[in-house]
Amino acid sequence: MSFKNTETKFGSIAISLHWLMAIIIIGMLALGLYMTGLPKSALKLKLYGWHKEFGMLILMLAAARISWRLSNINPSLASLPSWERLGALAVHWMLYLLMFAMPITGWLITSAAGFPVSFFGLFLIPTIVPADENWLKIFETMHEWIAYGLIALIIGHTLAALKHHFIDKDDIFRRML
Ligand code: HEM
Ligand code: HEM
Repeated sequence: MSFKNTETKFGSIAISLHWLMAIIIIGMLALGLYMTGLPKSALKLKLYGWHKEFGMLILMLAAARISWRLSNINPSLASLPSWERLGALAVHWMLYLLMFAMPITGWLITSAAGFPVSFFGLFLIPTIVPADENWLKIFETMHEWIAYGLIALIIGHTLAALKHHFIDKDDIFRRML
């Protein structure tokens, strides 16, 4: 049986998850860069707490999103020239990968520091590795560099979306709205 993908738009669940996660992830990047520069204070402690809780929320949303993505038919990029299609696919799958790598390395940091994470006061998320000073530094470095990679990808991804909308004037942007 032959099958033709004729989807012209992402579904409402994919769209809602895309924009909800985009807002939280961009907020998390800004919060992370801001909070680490603060002097030790009650505010710093509070912001670290929020950062960890929203970060774990992203991990859960990422799991839901990838499951949804893999079990649904999505609009294809077949109308694009092959280099653009390959570029878009590479960036999208890297974004999916980093949606997991960011919170998991964060979780590793707090675990190596010996702290469980409170999930909005509802329950405690346990540590996943034993407390260890050396590993703590390694996980912090990984978390930081993955964040820089993610920032670069998001900038490229956003510029590409805007190019499609304003320069190519095609429907690539609109189908995520
Ligand atoms: C989408 C998810 C996340 C993003 C985008 C993100 C982003 C960032 C960024 C940009 C920084 C600053 C890096 C630096 O300048 O050193 C940071 C630091 C940090 N993040 Fe995250 N993070 C995420 C999830 C998490 C999670 C889930 C946890 C813990 C459960 C966590 C724990 C931390 C900690 C403890 C620091 C401070 C590290 C240090 O003091 O060097 N993050 N994060
Ligand atoms: C804020 C600026 C953003 C804009 C304007 C934007 C725009 C778009 C658009 C138009 C698409 C659909 C492409 C298509 O039609 O195939 C898309 C897909 C996607 N976006 Fe974004 N996005 C933004 C931020 C983000 C962020 C922060 C992330 C995650 C870190 C993200 C992750 C993704 C992923 C993974 C896809 C691929 C969806 C799929 O095919 O499964 N986006 N984005």
